[in-house]
Amino acid sequence: MKNIVILISGRGSNMQAIVEAAIPGARIAAVLSNRPDAAGLAWAAERGIATEALDHKAYDSREAFDAALAARIDAYAPDLLVLAGFMRILSAGFTEHYAGRMFNIHPSLLPAFTGMHTHRRAIEAGCKLAGCTVHFVTAELDHGPIVAQAAVPVLDDDTEATLAERVLAAEHQLYPAAVRAFVEDRLQIDGLRVRGAD
Ligand code: GRF
Repeated sequence: MKNIVILISGRGSNMQAIVEAAIPGARIAAVLSNRPDAAGLAWAAERGIATEALDHKAYDSREAFDAALAARIDAYAPDLLVLAGFMRILSAGFTEHYAGRMFNIHPSLLPAFTGMHTHRRAIEAGCKLAGCTVHFVTAELDHGPIVAQAAVPVLDDDTEATLAERVLAAEHQLYPAAVRAFVEDRLQIDGLRVRGAD
């Protein structure tokens, strides 16, 4: 059995998709948030999952918060740490500690559109395809080895909101499948390439 710890900052719809996937061999050990009011915390708690909130505003520095967060995460002995809408830049020490065992999902087809406002930027750039990427987290923001991607069309009448909705639906399929591949020990990292997710 592999322990999964999920970090969220808000609604947690990706977290919900992973929980509801009920991946054989995976146990959702805890859901943690940097925001005590994150809606996803209540959803997880209602299902009997351990939840904790650590308010980053209570810490003097990014390093101090990340150290406190890592201590709480490690209390659940995670095999995989899953960032699901966790809206924090992570310190290098944190990313090193979880190297090779931390996933993030980003709402673009990386390496295009790292950072924020990905859907608006994809529409403005005239892209015909948009999508989402699950990647291993490294110190460089949105640049780690790519585990899996899903593409969706950009339609002529799309707005940022309609495209975001279409991409989010793809995220809810992609993220549980990527977690499952990790849990089944199928992934092999080779530089920025990851094999075995299919
Ligand atoms: C998703 O679009 C994800 O790609 C991005 O943040 C959003 C989180 O949504 N990193 P949710 O909290 O999982 O509903």
